[in-house]
Amino acid sequence: MTGKILVVDDDPSTLRFMRLLLTAEGFAVATAQDAQEGLRAVQTEQPDLIILDIMMPDMDGMDMCRQLRGRPDTADIPIIFLTAKVQLDDRVAGLKAGADDYITKPAEPREIVARVEAVLARTRRAPPARQGRVVALIGAKGGMGTSTMAVNLAVALEQRQLSTLLIDLHHYSGTIAQQLKLAVRSSLTDLLALEPDQIDGQQVQRVLMLHPSGARALLSPPAGAGLIELPVGHATAIVRGAKLLSDIVLLDLPHVPSPALKEVLSLSDMALIVLEPEPIPVACAEQTLPLLEEAGLIGEAVGLIVVNHTQSVTSLPLADIERTLNKSCLGVIPPAFAELAHSDHHGTPVILSKPQSMVSISLRELAERVQTRVSSLGLYAR
Ligand SMILES: Nc1ncnc2c1ncn2[C@@H]1O[C@H](COP(=O)(O)OP(=O)(O)OP(=O)(O)O)[C@@H](O)[C@H]1O
Ligand SMILES: [Mg+2]
Repeated sequence: MTGKILVVDDDPSTLRFMRLLLTAEGFAVATAQDAQEGLRAVQTEQPDLIILDIMMPDMDGMDMCRQLRGRPDTADIPIIFLTAKVQLDDRVAGLKAGADDYITKPAEPREIVARVEAVLARTRRAPPARQGRVVALIGAKGGMGTSTMAVNLAVALEQRQLSTLLIDLHHYSGTIAQQLKLAVRSSLTDLLALEPDQIDGQQVQRVLMLHPSGARALLSPPAGAGLIELPVGHATAIVRGAKLLSDIVLLDLPHVPSPALKEVLSLSDMALIVLEPEPIPVACAEQTLPLLEEAGLIGEAVGLIVVNHTQSVTSLPLADIERTLNKSCLGVIPPAFAELAHSDHHGTPVILSKPQSMVSISLRELAERVQTRVSSLGLYAR
C-alpha cells in the first residue's frame, strides 16, 4: 500500500524505528517531535494518516487529535494512537478524542503495519464528506462595498460556526489581503502555474492564508504581479476544490463580466448583488440579472445587499428597489464611513474592530439571513 504517514512522537528512537518500518513497507514518512511541529507538518505534508503519541510535553496527543478533528480541512485524516498508556480508560479516551485506532507500546512491527493498512483501506473507501455551498458576491458596479461585505461576512459566518473560505477572484488589484491584513505568501498565481486538472482540494488548501478569525482566504495575485488572465478551466477547478474544504465558499467577484466569471457563477448556489440605493446602481444591477439567470441563478438564489454609503435624501426606498429588481433584500447596511476607514486602516474587519457598532450588527444579521437562505436552497441542491 502507498501513502504518506506522519508520525508524531517526542521519543527520537520511536521516530527512527517507525520511519524504518513504514518506509520498508512502501510508505512515505514524515516525522514531528511535538504536537505544535505535528500540526504544522499536517499542513505542509498533507499526510494520509497520522500516528500519534499521547504523552508529549506542552500539548499532548489527545489535544492535538481534538484540534485536528475540529478543523474541516483536517477532520477526516485517519489517526492512530501509538502509546505506552495501556489502561482501558486511556484507550476509551483516545477513541473518544476521535482516533480511528489505538496501538500500545511496545508493539509488534507486523501489528503496526496491519493496523495502518486496515485504517487506510477503511477510510479510503469512504466518499469525500464535504460539498460546501458557493455564495458569489458581485457589485452592481465598482466601489459598492462588495469586498467589505465579503470580508465581514466571512468572519461573521465563522462566528456562526460555519467554516468559511473566501476567494478573491480579482486577478488584478484585489483588496482582500489588505482588508484582512494577510501577507500574500501564496495566492491565485500559485494555482495558475498548475494545469487545471492538477488543481484539487489539496492544492487549493496549500495556498490558503489563515485569518485569526478562523476564516481562510485564497488571495488574488500580489501587487506588481502584472495583469494576468484568469482562465476558465483554472477558475472552475479552484471553486470545485474550495467546495471540498469548507461549509461556505464566498467569492469576491469583479463586477466586469468575463468567461471565467460566468463559469464560476454557474458553480454558485447563490449570488448576492451589492448596490447603493441610487438609480444608477439599481440600473446596473438590472443589467447583472440576465448574467446570473444564464448561470442558473434565479428566484431565491439571488439576493440583494443594499449598502448606504451616506445618509442621503435621494436614496431610493427599499421596496422600490426590490420591486424593480424583483429580488428580496437580505441586508441593509447603514453608513459607516468612520468605522470602515478605521477598519481598512488597521486591516481588521469592522465586525471585529467595532463589534457593537450599528454596521457590525447589520452585518451579523446579514450573515444569519445568508445562512438561512443557503440552507433553504440546499433543499433544491443543484
Ligand atoms: N456602509 C458604508 N458606509 C460608508 N462607506 C462604505 C460602506 N461600505 C463600504 N464603504 C466604503 O466604500 C469603499 C469601497 O468599498 P469596497 O472596496 O468594499 O468596494 P468594492 O465594491 O469591493 O470595490 P471594487 O469595485 O473596487 O472592488 C471603501 O472605502 C469602503 O470603506
Ligand atoms: Mg472589491
